[in-house]
Amino acid sequence: TALRSLLSITRAKLRQDDQEFDVAKKALITGITGQDGAYLAQLLLSKGYEVHGLARRSSTSDVNLSRLQWLGIEKDVRIVDGDLLDLSGLVRTVTDIKPDELYNLAAQSFVASSWQQPVLTGNVTGLGVTNVLEAIRLAKPDTRFYQASSSEMYGLVQQPVQSETTPFYPRSPYAVAKLYGHWITVNYRESFGIHASSGILFNHESPLRGIEFVTRKVTDSVARIKLGLSKELRLGNTSAKRDWGHAKDYVRAMWLMLQQDTPDDYVVATGRTSTVRTMCEIAFSHVGLNIDDHLVIDEALFRPAEVEILLGDPAKAKAKLGWETSISMEELIREMVDADMARHRKA
Ligand code: NAP
Ligand code: GDD
Repeated sequence: TALRSLLSITRAKLRQDDQEFDVAKKALITGITGQDGAYLAQLLLSKGYEVHGLARRSSTSDVNLSRLQWLGIEKDVRIVDGDLLDLSGLVRTVTDIKPDELYNLAAQSFVASSWQQPVLTGNVTGLGVTNVLEAIRLAKPDTRFYQASSSEMYGLVQQPVQSETTPFYPRSPYAVAKLYGHWITVNYRESFGIHASSGILFNHESPLRGIEFVTRKVTDSVARIKLGLSKELRLGNTSAKRDWGHAKDYVRAMWLMLQQDTPDDYVVATGRTSTVRTMCEIAFSHVGLNIDDHLVIDEALFRPAEVEILLGDPAKAKAKLGWETSISMEELIREMVDADMARHRKA
């Protein structure tokens, strides 16, 4: 009898080990159709995750998967219809998928639009975070949660270099909404013990960046000018300074945060800042053009309240996550110009 029970315990243990070995971790990404969603999905797939993505249905096409297609992974992710505004749908999704990790990247993320749509921005970018956290709390409280917080929260900067302890001073409806999302994440961690981390990410770009953001607007225009498709580039405040990194590097930091035993908040930045004009000069000179022959300053593109400078201190991310940026701003902008040249040549 003793031998039989020893055998059955050993078999049960082997089955358990098998399951632990075989079963892939499941991740759910909101905002999977966006820049970061696409790169994060690619990273998680490369690590053997089963990747699910929440996406909004649209009447013109089922879902815009162009970024996932660009990376060649659109068939590898499982898309589920959903919206950050729909709590019951989110609860159903978390109940069905039972994710080990949930990355909340969805947002109305364009700062300039947030003055035009402040209520929508507040609902999606702010309260939407609570909807996702509620879905976790109700349906699977041991899900690890990542919130996409933003350096925009520093706004009118209170310290020359911004770290996790720098006070916030948001300067746009978007930043105010992100600040709410940031603190509700901290609150659910402290109130309910949810493994919830917040990444305070500084600007990060790539060839998959939306065309409305300044780097991509510049690299796309430079490519068009070089190819004779356009003559000028109209910009607003070119003296604003940003700490720009590559999105591919930054999604790695998101994943690292959820692999820690203890949830926490981290600044993710390069530690270097440049003006919009310097970034433009890199783009123009990469294709042998002179910026002053093409740049036009347009007062209509200035913002009602500007964030003049952002410069992050990534020391904590380096010390605790072992995270470092690997792509310089020059390499990033040249890669974006090359990608836009290739796109326009093909079109
Ligand atoms: P993005 O390209 O603008 O992507 C935003 C995503 O959110 C898209 O997939 C969009 O879907 C989705 N979305 C918008 N409203 C939604 C709603 N109501 N329900 C569900 N999904 C919705 O942004 P990103 O650059 O990848 O940034 C990812 C996240 O990081 C955002 O939260 C952004 O605010 C934050 N962040 C970005 C940076 C940066 O420099 N990139 C820095 C700090 C923080 P559609 O395709 O349907 O529009
Ligand atoms: N978009 C845009 N278009 N920005 C311009 C232009 C223009 O024609 N001309 C000057 N700028 C300046 C803006 O005034 C701002 O100071 C800077 O370029 C960067 O603008 P964006 O690229 O639109 O990014 P952002 O810094 O406002 O916001 C991005 O980074 C945040 C993190 O700091 C977004 O990705 C946010 O979602 C993110 O949270």
